[in-house]
Formats: sequence, C-alpha cells, structure tokens
Amino acid sequence: MSKIATLEIDGNKYEFPIIEGTENELGIDIKTLRAVTGGVTTIDPGYKNTGSCESAITFLDGEKGILRYRGYSIEELADKADFLEVCYLLIFGELPTAEQLEKFDKDIKEESQVDEDMKKILDGFPKSAHPMGVLSSLTSALIAFNPGSVDVDSEEAMYGAIVKILAKFPVLAAWTMRKKKSLPLDYGDNSLGYVENLHKMMFSRPNQTYEANKIVNDALDKLLILHADHEQNCSTSTVRIVGSSHAGLFASLSAGISALWGPLHGGANQAVIEMLEAIREDGGDTAKYIAKAKDKNDPFRLMGFGHRVYKNFDPRAKIIKKSAEEVLGDLGIEDPVLDIAKGLAEVALKDEYFVQRKLYPNVDFYSGIIYRALGIPTDMFTVMFALGRLPGWIAQWREMRLRKEPIGRPRQIYIGENYRVFKPISER
Ligand code: CMC
Repeated sequence: MSKIATLEIDGNKYEFPIIEGTENELGIDIKTLRAVTGGVTTIDPGYKNTGSCESAITFLDGEKGILRYRGYSIEELADKADFLEVCYLLIFGELPTAEQLEKFDKDIKEESQVDEDMKKILDGFPKSAHPMGVLSSLTSALIAFNPGSVDVDSEEAMYGAIVKILAKFPVLAAWTMRKKKSLPLDYGDNSLGYVENLHKMMFSRPNQTYEANKIVNDALDKLLILHADHEQNCSTSTVRIVGSSHAGLFASLSAGISALWGPLHGGANQAVIEMLEAIREDGGDTAKYIAKAKDKNDPFRLMGFGHRVYKNFDPRAKIIKKSAEEVLGDLGIEDPVLDIAKGLAEVALKDEYFVQRKLYPNVDFYSGIIYRALGIPTDMFTVMFALGRLPGWIAQWREMRLRKEPIGRPRQIYIGENYRVFKPISER
C-alpha cells in the first residue's frame, strides 16, 4: 500500500503521497501543497530537508558511507574502471561496451580543437586571475563559438553537445594553467588516452618530448572518478537550475564552475592545503587549530572536514587517503603536510566536538596532497575537481532536460516592511 503523510494546519488536515526510491528512501510529495492549503509554503534554507528532483544517476547514503554511480560502488569503479568509462556510465546510464567506448573516445577526439580566437579571450585575463574564474569565463565564451541551443529532443544533437564539451573542457583547463605559467598553449596528442592527454596538455614543454608516467596518470584517473558525481550538491543543483530555464549546456556548466569555486564546496581542496601549510609554518601545533575550529568566536573551520550528507565517513576520503600514501611512496616524495593532515584527523576523530557533530574528513582533505605530489599548482586544485565533476554535471543536466523538469523557482517567506507610502526626497 502506498504511504501517505498527513499535515494539520489550524485543524484542517491535508494528505500528501509519499514516494519511495529504489533504495527505500521516502519523500513527501508536496507538489499540491500551495494549491490545497491556499498558499502555505515550506521553508528550508540550504535545502537540508528538501529533495529537488528524482534522479537515477547517483545514490548516496550518508549514514552508511555509500556512494554509487548508476548502481556501481565508488570503490569498485575507482579500482577497476577508467575515467572515460565512468563518464559514459554517468551520462548514458550503462557501462560502455568496447565498441561504444572506442566510438565515444574517437568522437571526443574529433572535437578536441578549440577555436583559435578563444586564445584572444584567454589573453585578456591577467596572469594573476584565479583559474576557476578564467575557466568559468572560457566555458561561457564557448557559447559564442557554438551558438544555437541544443535540440534536446534529438539524441544525435545531445550526443554532439556532450562530446564537444568533454573534448574542449580539458583543453581550456590546461590552457588556463599554461597561461599562468607563461607556457605556449598545447592541443595535446589525440593518440593518447583522455587523462594522459590532459596531463600532457598541462605539463608538456615545448622543447621536450612528453613522457607519460603511469603512476601519475593512474592517480589522476582515480581522482577524476572519485569527483565525477555527487548527486544534488551545490554546483550540480546550480547546473540543473540554470539549465531548467532552458539556458544551454555550456551556460549551465559555466554557472556550475562558479558554484564549485567556493571554499565550502570544491574550493575546499585549495583551502585545505593552504591551511595545512599555515599550520606547518606556525610550528605544526595541530591542537591549536583544533581548538580554533571549535571556538565559536573564531571564524576558522577545519577545512576538508564535515559534509552535508556524510555523517559517518566519506568513502571518497578513505580511498584518497590510501591513494595519497601510495602515490607519495611510489613517487618517492615526502610531504610534511601529509603528517600534519593525519595528525589533525587523528585528534579530530576522537574529539567530542567533531564526534558529536559527526564531522569526518571529506573528499577534499587529502586530495590536495596528491595534486601537489603530481606537480599541480594549488590554485589549479579546484579546476581538477571541475574536470572530474564535468560528466556528473552533464549527466544531471541531460536527465533534467529529458525528464522535462519545470523551471527551478523556489518560494520564500517575506519578512520585510509592510506597505508604506512613498515619501518625496524632501520629506525623508
Ligand atoms: N570545522 C568546524 N566546525 C564545523 C565544520 C568544520 N569544518 N563543519 C561543520 N562544523 C560545525 C558547525 O559549526 C556546526 O556547529 P553548531 O551545530 O555548533 O553550530 C555544525 O558543525 C554543523 O555544521 P553546518 O555548517 O550546519 O553543516 P552543513 O551541512 O551546513 O555544512 C559543510 C557542511 C561541508 C559546508 C561544512 O561542514 C564545512 O564548512 N566544512 C568545511 C569546508 C569543506 O571541507 N567543504 C568541502 C565539502 S566536501 C566537497 C564538496 O562536495 O564540495
């Protein structure tokens, strides 16, 4: 029997159906709330209790620390799949066959040129510009070179737009870094795999033959997979809501990049390394920073700790911590901030403040340590997150458009002045 929720307001009872997901999550369907109650609305700042959509892409159980893309566990995907397979899985719903993957790879490579005039736009940015701002702007600028909206009813047009952005985005991301480093822009090499080519585009030198490093590329591949989707987080919700106005895919993605930039979201990976460095420079006293994080009069937060949904552990953080130790070991790098990070986590995980609030290391806590070991500059960390999250944003945008979801437009409770008579300036 289907479940019903009953709401009572001033003695009047209203019934709402409860919908159940495939993992038995329950949601009260309040689509008719305003109509039947005569305008009563719900209020939930930060949407802590509000489901914005039904989605078949990613399942996340914050209590049990479960993360699955299209039903496959993150642990298995990080271990056995490569990033391009995960892109295909997230966007189209199934793991690709060898033939489908080959075609996908080929189609992406076909689109991997960026209009040369984009270089003029890149040139207009000062070298000091943050790469996330540049990447968001360049993604938006792509619209000018690819005008016309995607016909979402045409599978072919959708596929075309998807391979186009998957192809051009890594070029733009790599160019953003090369511009900062005053290196000539590189188009990569289509004989390489997607992740290897990204690495080449970022790191090749004009006077040296690029040599791939398997440890580096495997680590990068894994990091991209771990970041590839995370259901209705801030940037993904942004992509969906911008797309819900029927703004195009590139415009929606550009908005998502801006949302990801913030230090409470993707920008946390940069903030974590900066925090760990500051602790190191301050003598490595982790207890002092734990105390600061707990002090309600101090704005300091332990960056890379806490999560809106995970209240037990973040499965991605577990994988990344292990990977950080392996990558640093394999590359023969000793990074003192890894010890500081481990020390902080050890103390915090036993501390009443963190235990009570269920605050655990999140995906960003250890990822920066790997990025740093791979030679990626700190201000590029969030760009790496964006490169990983790209297929998730695309999948969510595609799902939203195919389900013909209505325009996103939340309500509010007005708490301002009641009607006032306008006063001419001489009377104010
Ligand atoms: N350090 C110290 N206290 C914290 C922290 C932290 N990192 N995170 C949460 N708290 C406290 C917070 O002060 C509050 O305490 P109280 O109940 O006494 O007021 C309580 O824990 C609940 O916090 P909240 O801010 O209401 O929780 P939220 O779900 O709104 O925020 C969060 C989640 C991730 C924004 C937050 O934990 C945070 O700011 N963490 C640091 C930034 C970070 O690492 N962000 C990356 C998130 S994972 C990657 C991604 O998906 O973007």
